[in-house]
Amino acid sequence: MTADLDRVAEVLAGASRVSVLTGSGISAESGVPTFRTEDGLWENYRLEDVATPEAVARNPRGVWEFYEMRRANMQAVQPNAGHFALAELAPMFESFTLATQNIDGLHQRAGSADVLEVHGSLWRAHCDHCGRVVDPFPFPAPEIPPPCGCGEVLRPSVVLFGEALPHDVFAAATAAASECDVAFSIGTSSVVWPAAGLPVLAGERGAFVIEINPAATELTPAFDVSLRGPAGTVLPDLVRRVRRVREGTA
Ligand code: APR
Repeated sequence: MTADLDRVAEVLAGASRVSVLTGSGISAESGVPTFRTEDGLWENYRLEDVATPEAVARNPRGVWEFYEMRRANMQAVQPNAGHFALAELAPMFESFTLATQNIDGLHQRAGSADVLEVHGSLWRAHCDHCGRVVDPFPFPAPEIPPPCGCGEVLRPSVVLFGEALPHDVFAAATAAASECDVAFSIGTSSVVWPAAGLPVLAGERGAFVIEINPAATELTPAFDVSLRGPAGTVLPDLVRRVRRVREGTA
């Protein structure tokens, strides 16, 4: 692991364009449950009941109860050392793009700017009928389901299963992945596409690609290096090593 960390630090120290994809694993050390690990969210809820457009149409109240529960959980937690390390890395490169599948807002709370939220955010709501967006949407919701001025109801601005990703956001993430020198996939099982494909695309375009995850994933063979450890330990360690290489003290 130390040899791999040194290798990644060397590559990163010489990079100018970096693109990062994060998943729920980066928030695990903040106490946010992941989705597919033991006792993960999808072990305890049927996603068909709470995270599909059909569920919103059939039972908007049930969907809102699920997302209000998640908003309450997220509000009670703090960003961790992994989120902070990414915010520290950003200004060290000519271009640094952070795309996240997470809807928790923890990257922003750690100081990351211009985060590409490819699966939306828990802290916004919108109306599918008239297009009104409420950003930020207050917590707790004043009413469930919250009425929209147009006579319909608002829904959480998260990407549900079966829905397309926000076009402009995903286009920006795709452009960054295709043009970077180094790409990271951090804390994601890499089973949900198209987001999982961003680091793969970067690799196909010649970038050095790195996975940070305590466990192997389906896409592990596609990476140049897999750093097997928790993001909250690996990322701060990496930031220190990149600084040392840049300062010529490695
Ligand atoms: N540091 C890094 N990775 C971690 C950590 C940690 N401390 N703890 C767990 N992980 C890894 C797990 O090994 C697993 O590979 O995080 C990954 C979490 O995977 P999932 O639960 O599948 O979450 P994610 O990949 O973010 O899911 C993708 O699925 O339901 C949806 O929309 C939801 O955005 C989400 C998408």
